[in-house]
Amino acid sequence: MNVQLPPRSPKTSLTEMTEIVLPQHANALGSVFGGQVMAWIDICAAVAAQRHCGRVAVTAAVDGIQFLAPIHVGEVVLLEGRVNAAFTTSMEVEVLVDVEDPATGLRTRCLEAWLTFVAIDRNRPCPVPPLDVQTPEEKARQQAAIERRSQRLERRRSNG
Ligand SMILES: CC(C)(COP(=O)(O)OP(=O)(O)OC[C@H]1O[C@@H](n2cnc3c(N)ncnc32)[C@H](O)[C@@H]1OP(=O)(O)O)[C@@H](O)C(=O)NCCC(=O)NCCS
Repeated sequence: MNVQLPPRSPKTSLTEMTEIVLPQHANALGSVFGGQVMAWIDICAAVAAQRHCGRVAVTAAVDGIQFLAPIHVGEVVLLEGRVNAAFTTSMEVEVLVDVEDPATGLRTRCLEAWLTFVAIDRNRPCPVPPLDVQTPEEKARQQAAIERRSQRLERRRSNG
């Protein structure tokens, strides 16, 4: 039986994390390792996905990640994740990463990432609630996610 789950607002999945860059996170240039930020992004996105679907969700793909500016030791890293679109068993999660200068409070966008998570029940993909998009911004995010997904599926098809 295919039970329709009640829709959930994108606000349900909103997830904020704050980290501080310590010397053990840094490379020889004193900026953070890409892999460290990717780990923070994956955690933030997993929490957002799980808040939306109310289940365990696993990372299926990283659809895009842009490193826009370096992050240095001592800076405060602010991550904000949200579900942009919900499909059948998968969801696209966006994570935006800013740094905050502790002296001035000035914020700079350093990374943007889009990830696909799949909800799991008894070791198998299971349905996720639809996303209840209302505002023009939520609708635009959903539309962009639909386009990224269709490009990814097309790439998978053409790669066999
Ligand atoms: C992701 C995973 C659960 C998909 O399982 P599967 O049996 O291939 O599932 P299906 O083919 O039925 O696809 C289920 C959904 O996953 C999506 N999916 C599967 N593989 C994907 C991929 N590589 N990229 C993006 N989405 C993918 C499908 O599009 C489908 O979405 P939809 O239901 O919304 O249309 C499985 O491949 C897996 O367990 N991968 C390892 C996950 C993992 O260990 N992550 C890192 C640690 S958290």
